[in-house]
Amino acid sequence: EKDGYDYFMLKEIAEQPKAVADTLLGRIDASGTLSLDEVRIPASVLREVNKIVIVACGTAFHAGMIAKYAIEHWTRIPCETELASEFRYRDPILDERTLVVAISQSGETMDTLMALRHAREQGARVLAICNTNGSTIPRESDAVLYTHAGPEVAVASTKAFLTQLVACYLVALYLGQVRGTKWGDEIGSVVRELSEIAVQVEQVLGTMEPVRELARSLADKNTVLFLGRHVGYPVAMEGALKLKELAYMHAEGFAAGELKHGPIALIEQDLPVVVVVPSPRGRSVLHDKIVSNIQEIRARGARTIVIAEEGDETVVPYADHLVRIPATPTLLQPLVATVPLQVFACELATARGNEVDQPRNLAKSVTVE
Ligand code: M6R
Repeated sequence: EKDGYDYFMLKEIAEQPKAVADTLLGRIDASGTLSLDEVRIPASVLREVNKIVIVACGTAFHAGMIAKYAIEHWTRIPCETELASEFRYRDPILDERTLVVAISQSGETMDTLMALRHAREQGARVLAICNTNGSTIPRESDAVLYTHAGPEVAVASTKAFLTQLVACYLVALYLGQVRGTKWGDEIGSVVRELSEIAVQVEQVLGTMEPVRELARSLADKNTVLFLGRHVGYPVAMEGALKLKELAYMHAEGFAAGELKHGPIALIEQDLPVVVVVPSPRGRSVLHDKIVSNIQEIRARGARTIVIAEEGDETVVPYADHLVRIPATPTLLQPLVATVPLQVFACELATARGNEVDQPRNLAKSVTVE
C-alpha cells in the first residue's frame, strides 16, 4: 500500500498535488465562479453572518490560523481561530449570526467535537471541513465541505493540511463572492492562481534533495527555531510541530516581530533557524521587515535556513541555506512553503532513527478530551 515508498508519510507528501487538485475539482467553473452547493447553508444566511469562529486542534488549527487572514481580508467579517480544547471553557460569545468552522482530518477529534456541540447549543451554525466521509464531526454539523485528500495514514498530517487550506480559501472566497465585498476583482485572480497551485506544489516536490541533505546534517542538533510573519507565522508553527512529533526535537515557531520581545535571547552560535519569507511583491513591507529579522539573528550567530520565493535576491546575502519556492500571492504561500518543512521533519526523523509513521506517544485520531 505504500506504493514503493518507505513510509506512508513520504507517499502522502508526494500525493499532495493530486490532493489539492481533487479538493478544487468541480468547485470552480470555467468563468472562475465558485459553486459550493454542497455547503447547504443558504446564501441568504451567509450574508447575515457577522462573526466567524474557527475551532480545530494541532495541524488543523494551523490551517485555521491561516484561514483567519484569508477570511478577514476577502470577506471583512471578523474571524477568530481558537484551539478547540480551550474554546468552550471560556464561555465564548456565540449566536445565530455566528458561523463556526470546525476543521478536522479524521472527523473524530473529541476536543473539536465538544467545541462544535457547544457552539450549536448556543445557536451558532457549524460548517465542518473534514477529510473523512460520514465521520462524527460532519454528521453533527449543519454543513460540510469535504477535503478530498484520500486516506491519510501517517500520524503526521501532510496532505490533509494542504487540502484544509484549499477548503478554507474556498470558503473565504465563496463568502466574498456571496456577499460581494470590495475585493471582488481580487477574488477572480486569486481563484485563477489557486487553480494553478497543484502544479507549483509539484514543482516544490521536485527540488527537495538539498532540503533532505540539510536535514541529515542537523540530526545531532537539539533545537530548531522557525520564524514567519502574517500567514508565514502559522507555517512556522506547523514546521515546528512536525519536527516535535517526528524528530522529537525542541522546536518552536514564532512570529518574527516577537523576536525582540524575548525569543531573540535564545539565538546562539550555529542555532538553526528556519525563516519563511513572504513574497516581495504585494505587501512588501512584510518582506522588508523579515529581511531585517534575518539580519538580526544572523548577526548573533544563527544558521539561517531561508525559504523564499524564486527571484527574491534580497535574502541571498543572509541565507546560509536557501530553499526556493514558486511565486504565489502571499495569502496562498502556505500551500507551497509548508512542503519543504514536511520533507525536512520527515528526513530528520529518519536520520535520528525514529519511527516516521507512528511517532511515540501519539495516535492518528485523538478521541479523548
Ligand atoms: O483529525 P484532526 O484533524 O482533528 O486532528 C487534529 C490533530 O490531532 C492533528 O492535526 C495532529 O496535530 C497531527 N498529528 C499533526 O501532524
